[in-house]
Amino acid sequence: MSAPIGIIGGTALAQLAGVHTPTDPTTPNTDYGPASGPLVLGEFTDRKVCFMMRHGPGHRLAPHMINYRANIRALADAGCRQVIAIAAVGGITEGMTSGRIVVPHQIVDYSWGRAHTFYDDPARGGLDHIDFTDPYAPTLRQALIGAADKLGFDPAVQAVHGVTQGPRLETAAEIDRMERDGCDIVGMTGMPEAALAREAGLDYACAAVVVNKAAGRTGGLAIHTEIEATLAQGMIDIEALLEAVVPDV
Ligand code: HPA
Repeated sequence: MSAPIGIIGGTALAQLAGVHTPTDPTTPNTDYGPASGPLVLGEFTDRKVCFMMRHGPGHRLAPHMINYRANIRALADAGCRQVIAIAAVGGITEGMTSGRIVVPHQIVDYSWGRAHTFYDDPARGGLDHIDFTDPYAPTLRQALIGAADKLGFDPAVQAVHGVTQGPRLETAAEIDRMERDGCDIVGMTGMPEAALAREAGLDYACAAVVVNKAAGRTGGLAIHTEIEATLAQGMIDIEALLEAVVPDV
């Protein structure tokens, strides 16, 4: 039997309708503490999936409060070998318009102070400097891109994902700097999640949806109004994307 596919839902996907759960989900307690919330194990399309809400039930955990290590460890312990991470992001560069589906290919990490590695306890043994040249798993990225193409979404497939600390949004000057650094989209939760997945030996890729123009690029719309207006359709599109991609990976 094939391994379950891990799905980490964020602001753009609080729940995954269509997962049929045979048992009541429980919150895994790992060597790194409790995960964000219940791990929902079940069938989605014709595949087994493990769905985890990154921000926990009721969306209560701010990005810097999330126990990324526990979430990744819980998915690995549940037998997942591949993880699809869903993210709501701000759009920085041209073309990153609200509603656009983005499958980023690179990361610049601006987050700080988060427990960002499994290699911090000599008692657990082993130290590896993982290769992170390409932070996302190519095959999983291609599957996401193929599914998005099939659905006619016109996904952005060359995009650098800048990850800020939050929970506040960025200043206009910070976004200008991020653009100079080469970032196309901005979110708050892409790291250390991606690196921890690599350390845990999981194939990890991200499907993001742009829910607002980043600070200083709002085109006159207040960011929160724009996010609200975009999020509902974004969730529908992300669910359609998952329905299309899960049977193929
Ligand atoms: N900045 C950071 N994170 C985000 C944004 C943003 O504009 N929109 C959604 N997540």
